Amino acid sequence: MHQAPSTSTPAGQTALMLGLETSCDETATAVVRGDGLVVADRVRSQLEAHAPFGGVVPEIAARAHVEVLDLLIARTMADAGLGFGDLAGIAATTGPGLIGGLMVGAVTGKAIAAAHGLPFYAVNHLEGHVLTPRLADGIAFPYLVLLVSGGHCQLVLATGVGRYRRLGTTIDDAVGEAFDKVAKLLGLGYPGGPALERLAAEGDPARFALPRPLLGRPGCHFSFSGLKTAVLHLARAQSAPPATWRADLAAGFQAAVADTLVDRTRHAVEAARAATPDLGHLVVAGGVAANAVVRDRLETLAGEQGLAFAAPPLRWCGDNAAMIAWAALERRSAGFADDPLDAPVRARWPLDPGAEPAIGAGIKA
Ligand code: KG4
Ligand code: ZN
Repeated sequence: MHQAPSTSTPAGQTALMLGLETSCDETATAVVRGDGLVVADRVRSQLEAHAPFGGVVPEIAARAHVEVLDLLIARTMADAGLGFGDLAGIAATTGPGLIGGLMVGAVTGKAIAAAHGLPFYAVNHLEGHVLTPRLADGIAFPYLVLLVSGGHCQLVLATGVGRYRRLGTTIDDAVGEAFDKVAKLLGLGYPGGPALERLAAEGDPARFALPRPLLGRPGCHFSFSGLKTAVLHLARAQSAPPATWRADLAAGFQAAVADTLVDRTRHAVEAARAATPDLGHLVVAGGVAANAVVRDRLETLAGEQGLAFAAPPLRWCGDNAAMIAWAALERRSAGFADDPLDAPVRARWPLDPGAEPAIGAGIKA
């Protein structure tokens, strides 16, 4: 292992990192430069393979990563006009995520690193999401991130590279998962979030009284299963044709989610301020950050709290490899060493191992 030069040096600014992301249902590869230039960036979704099952099937995901990863890397290197010898390192997501897919990315990354004598970086997928605002907008520490996707629902205070405090997490479903399940219930396809948002735009959010789980309660944790069950009961109780209630129920669900996210995030802002008075930004990241209602409500909250608001561009909100390469570059420039070639893959890998657990079972790391 060797100590890396800083990005503040010319060598750090021009360092090129290949990133691989295979933790869920996107195979992604990217080359990013130390100064934040994304030289090449490809994402290949497996949506079609999983859609018939209404969710991600781990075995199908792993096989699909094996089938496309080599080709995607070759195309990405060609896009960048680079050979492996031009790289300063290879970074792969090694957790948290689906173990089969993680193994595909990690083994591939390690093999390229070994063959070309390059440093290997084992990157935490959550760290990739959390550091994306620095890649996209050059945001300075400290900032608060609301990470909302199909697999994650967390509030993280980032005070430096490798310095993350998890202020809140979900005690049951991730918010994207709740969107997907409610969408399925309403007869929409997978992934349901975008379709549900479109349907909700035609509905009346006030028609159905839906619960706002944990609203007003102390702390910053989330819970969505009660809301999901309430939607299920209301949908079953309807006797009129779906056209008269589906959009209203979608709008009601989306409004309840937005209220909950805003309430929990407000608490997290208070907790973050108590820890670091110079908090500058509220950032929303993850696939659900694509939801315009959620974004607008969070932007309003940020304004009320005197914080700047940022949301990475949509292509970097969802899973991608630019964030993985970037996280490795950040670690490198902060003086962290690269990782050994026997670095493990981990289905669970909390960003903040010391975080207080959420109440209840089924807590997402
Ligand atoms: O970050 P992402 O692409 O993948 C991971 O889950 O890691 O997030 C996908 C999730 C899915 O649950 C999807 O339904 C949700 O983000 N999503 C949305 C919207 N677009 C994507 N949820 C609500 N509204 C949207 N417009
Ligand atoms: Zn993700």
